[in-house]
Amino acid sequence: MNGATQRQLEQKLITVASGKGGVGKTWFAITLAHMLSRMGRRVLLFDGDLGLANVDIQLGLMPEKDVGDVLAGAMKLKSAVTRFNDGGFGTGGFDLLAGRSGCGSLANLSAERLAALKDGLIGMAAGYDHVVIDLAAGVDPGVVGLTEHAGTTFVLATPDPTSLTDAYALIKIKAMRNPATDTQIVINMASSKRQGEKTYEALNKAAEDFLKFSPPLAGIVKQDSRVADAIRHQAPILARHPQADAASAVAKISRRIPVALKAMAG
Ligand SMILES: Nc1ncnc2c1ncn2[C@@H]1O[C@H](COP(=O)(O)OP(=O)(O)OP(=O)(O)O)[C@@H](O)[C@H]1O
Ligand SMILES: [Mg+2]
Repeated sequence: MNGATQRQLEQKLITVASGKGGVGKTWFAITLAHMLSRMGRRVLLFDGDLGLANVDIQLGLMPEKDVGDVLAGAMKLKSAVTRFNDGGFGTGGFDLLAGRSGCGSLANLSAERLAALKDGLIGMAAGYDHVVIDLAAGVDPGVVGLTEHAGTTFVLATPDPTSLTDAYALIKIKAMRNPATDTQIVINMASSKRQGEKTYEALNKAAEDFLKFSPPLAGIVKQDSRVADAIRHQAPILARHPQADAASAVAKISRRIPVALKAMAG
């Protein structure tokens, strides 16, 4: 691993997870990767919701290769990268490992293949400052397994009560498997800052009372019609609506993410 330890490389992994589906993980993971790249970081975005390939759809890309090719044994992970260029914006832009609709989910991979995929990602982390992983919803072991050794996991929840209970279930499983990992909460689609804070407080109270663990609040992203507009136009929000409140909220979260270990040149 060229001098870096496994632990140092794992620290570069940022997983984006939720219990409930449709809470904005893919949009958040893309915006985070995009913002980090605009900060001059070298970023790899991995579509861990393999069988749905939502990342390339939200970005309006048509990748010629994807993780489906890797799972079929046709190419190595490193060769399956597609570049997302940030149309004229300085150094912005990041690498993407795209999913493929119908290629099956992480949940269906055997333990060996899942471990090989995880090792492949950790190996690739050497060449990047951050590897952002957009996960499928739910608490499947394949999903939670990828968060287990990540440097940071953002758990997204919305004020919807079922989203809160599902986020709690995910935090609980994660805390039981590896309590030492950094888990931070992002409240998305809040109607106001106050509603976002109250939502976080409810989740944090349940975690404190029952798990004796207090996951910090990374940030609150308000409900913003420009998110849906950008997705409809298959354009990243930082390109289409850079002034949107939702974009600023993710930018603020990105600026607090340190570089664990610089990417190796290459
Ligand atoms: N802050 C926001 N304001 C308004 N709409 C939002 C916001 N965040 C996400 N959305 C809406 O939620 C929808 C779902 O977003 P996204 O696909 O990113 O969720 P997801 O958690 O990745 O879903 P899945 O679990 O299916 O993978 C988007 O189409 C978008 O319209
Ligand atoms: Mg998604």
